[in-house]
Amino acid sequence: MTAEPLEIYLEEREVERDLRRDVRAGLSAEEKWLPPKWFYDARGSELFEEITRLPEYYPTRAERAVLAERAGDVAALTGAKTLIELGSGSSEKTRLLLDAFTRRGGLGTFVPLDVSVSALEASTAQIAADYPGLRVRGIVGDFTRQLDRLPTGGRRLVVFLGGTIGNLVPAERAEFLAATSAALEAGDWLLLGTDLVKDPSVIVPAYDDAAGVTAEFNRNVLHVINRELGADFDPAAFEHVAHWDPEHEWIEMRLRARRAMRVRVLDLSVEFAVGEELRTEVSAKFRPAGIAAELAAAGFTATEFWTDPEGLFGVTLAQAG
Ligand code: SAH
Ligand code: AVI
Repeated sequence: MTAEPLEIYLEEREVERDLRRDVRAGLSAEEKWLPPKWFYDARGSELFEEITRLPEYYPTRAERAVLAERAGDVAALTGAKTLIELGSGSSEKTRLLLDAFTRRGGLGTFVPLDVSVSALEASTAQIAADYPGLRVRGIVGDFTRQLDRLPTGGRRLVVFLGGTIGNLVPAERAEFLAATSAALEAGDWLLLGTDLVKDPSVIVPAYDDAAGVTAEFNRNVLHVINRELGADFDPAAFEHVAHWDPEHEWIEMRLRARRAMRVRVLDLSVEFAVGEELRTEVSAKFRPAGIAAELAAAGFTATEFWTDPEGLFGVTLAQAG
């Protein structure tokens, strides 16, 4: 079967408006920051895929190990008719779930949702070709504000993999989980991937790899702002930083100015002092009790919690109440 044309929840002009708003807010702040969703143009999505294959980046391999072991349980326990994937990217690991649902029978529709058009075009075409009989409805959308429009159609399973929930700060996470819960009906399901707290000597190299791919991914946000808003960032003038924050138990990716400079973007003239840092991402690591508590606060009941054999990554199955 061929994939249906992508459904657009997010028009180009809204994307540009959101980028302008975020750049204005983040670069005018005392401590400069940018939201991580702007990494993912076509190049950023490609760089992320490259990151998933790096020897230091354990989360993808660990989560894949959990799904390889547990996909059959997910299919049997949920009996889902519609599988919705948020921040789907390449949906590469999701194929383990699609395989299990195919063996069991009953899944009718797969709905990957992402801000990255290039990632969705590639994934929907490949999945539609590889799973004949499955309806594939790709949605270009933002999971932080468009969950009220999630498709209906029988028992639903929403999957949010990769640890992407950790890229939201706690208040955003609470809002995201509440919106997901509100979008679902009692009895629907959420499968949530979370990277777990562990020794920073394992975590930090995953965000500061020897080949410099993560550094390029990090600097890509500056290329996006230059291209989309006509800014004059010199990406090479920023050094990649991966900082472990033990209090929040998250990695912060930052871009550190190698020299003092002034950047023109929109109607702003943004000054960077030498050594000044711009925060581009947090990637929170979780503890099992914290995950269950955050889910419960949003009205979910966590029914299963699985990890890979090394205990690096957690996958929780939760039911909407
Ligand atoms: N789920 C995949 C990809 C993770 S990368 C995996 O586990 O490997 C994070 C993905 O989320 C990217 O594809 C990015 O484009 C998407 N994304 C980031 N912020 C988003 C947002 N606010 N709304 C929708 N998609 C988003
Ligand atoms: C998508 N997300 C879960 C990745 C992470 O690990 O936080 C993004 C990433 N940032 C740097 N490397 C990978």
